[in-house]
Amino acid sequence: MEPILVLYATHEGQTQRIAEHIAASVRVHGRLANVLNAAHIPDGFSLDAYAAAIVAASVHGGRHEKEIVRFVKDHVKELERIPTAFLSVSLSEAGAEDAMAPPENRARSAADATRMIDEFLAENRLAPVQH
Ligand SMILES: Cc1cc2nc3c(=O)[nH]c(=O)nc-3n(C[C@H](O)[C@H](O)[C@H](O)COP(=O)(O)O)c2cc1C
Repeated sequence: MEPILVLYATHEGQTQRIAEHIAASVRVHGRLANVLNAAHIPDGFSLDAYAAAIVAASVHGGRHEKEIVRFVKDHVKELERIPTAFLSVSLSEAGAEDAMAPPENRARSAADATRMIDEFLAENRLAPVQH
């Protein structure tokens, strides 16, 4: 069975840890998963051998990593051919999920996280099945 790609970009390492955790979960379900850093894509890389892709990136200064933007630009046609999920890691999302925070703060954080995801998807013409 074709493997699932877990492709990530990170500044401080959290998204790498999340990508490896996702890959481990995929493997528990009996599927192969390859984890790849968007900053080190091998020459001639293609998604043809993959059944699905999970693209993960973190936010700094309101933007996702340039490495992930480059990867999506280079491979958007291939990503359109397989189920793709986009995962955005940010302090805003952490705030949105903070059960101890006041509802208005959570709502503001959720709106920020959603806006950054929407901008990324629109700018890069990526239409994941899930984000
Ligand atoms: C310099 C810096 C800028 C950041 N800017 C944002 C931001 O604009 N919005 C946000 O929600 N989170 C922001 N964060 C939080 C990161 O998205 C968060 O720490 C994330 O876990 C980093 O993931 P990484 O370790 O994979 O790079 C910022 C963090 C740092 C250190």
